[in-house]
Amino acid sequence: MANPFYNPGARRAEKVHDLFATVARRYDLMNDLQSVGLHRLWKRRLVWLANVRAGEQALDVCCGTGDIAFALAREGASVVGLDFNEPMLAVAEARRQRPGDGNGREIGDATLAGDGLNPRFVKADAQAIPFPDNTFEIATVGYGLRNLARWETGLSEMHRVLKPGGRLLALDFGKPDNSLLRWVYFSYLRFLVPVLGAMVCGNPAAYAYILESLLHFPAQRGVDARMRELGLSRVRIINLLGGIMSINYGKKSDSNRAG
Ligand SMILES: C[S@@+](CC[C@H](N)C(=O)[O-])C[C@H]1O[C@@H](n2cnc3c(N)ncnc32)[C@H](O)[C@@H]1O
Repeated sequence: MANPFYNPGARRAEKVHDLFATVARRYDLMNDLQSVGLHRLWKRRLVWLANVRAGEQALDVCCGTGDIAFALAREGASVVGLDFNEPMLAVAEARRQRPGDGNGREIGDATLAGDGLNPRFVKADAQAIPFPDNTFEIATVGYGLRNLARWETGLSEMHRVLKPGGRLLALDFGKPDNSLLRWVYFSYLRFLVPVLGAMVCGNPAAYAYILESLLHFPAQRGVDARMRELGLSRVRIINLLGGIMSINYGKKSDSNRAG
């Protein structure tokens, strides 16, 4: 049976929006349960690879409840978290109010233009990023590209808003080359993750969507190829857990001003 949240046509974004609105309140808990906490390490690795220097401008696309945006801010970047889903952004904003929950208050003198909040969260479409060319030193996306109707457009947009020399990093579920590992891991996503989704969110389909969307996504190799087409330099794949997760990394070429 087709997954109700995966629509390959014109209603893709609407369905993805419905999905995250449905799970927003339990999203962080589900992340911890389904990855046994490992997503925290993978996000930490992404932020480490971003090599943040204090005061740099960073954009976290599809920021959701803000894990990566808060972590970039803790490293000293001035961060914008961008997402199109109000319930997910509401959780991110609520986290800012909770002391010791990775919010930006201990950032010190890393300041942002505008309201001074760090991270600052904005509601927008990742496929039409509302910032000028060459704005950010860092653009990250965690578990986001796979959800876009046109992930290539999202990647091009991230590239466009990067300054020359800026770093682009994308973390997502991967496709391991090892067929046995892939079978075990896809079975986990097919059978166990939806059960967790039913128990925690009352919605197995929302979590069966992970495998469905992954099967339609070219994962680390496709993103790597697209980064090369865009003219990024130092492009590489960092596989985690044998490629079950992966980070794609690239730098915007100095010669490539507008992407
Ligand atoms: C799986 S969550 C990832 C959240 C966060 N980055 C993390 O790693 O925990 C995917 C996020 O992408 C957002 N999203 C999906 N399509 C989007 C779009 N077209 N524009 C902006 N955000 C989008 C969803 O609202 C959701 O918050």
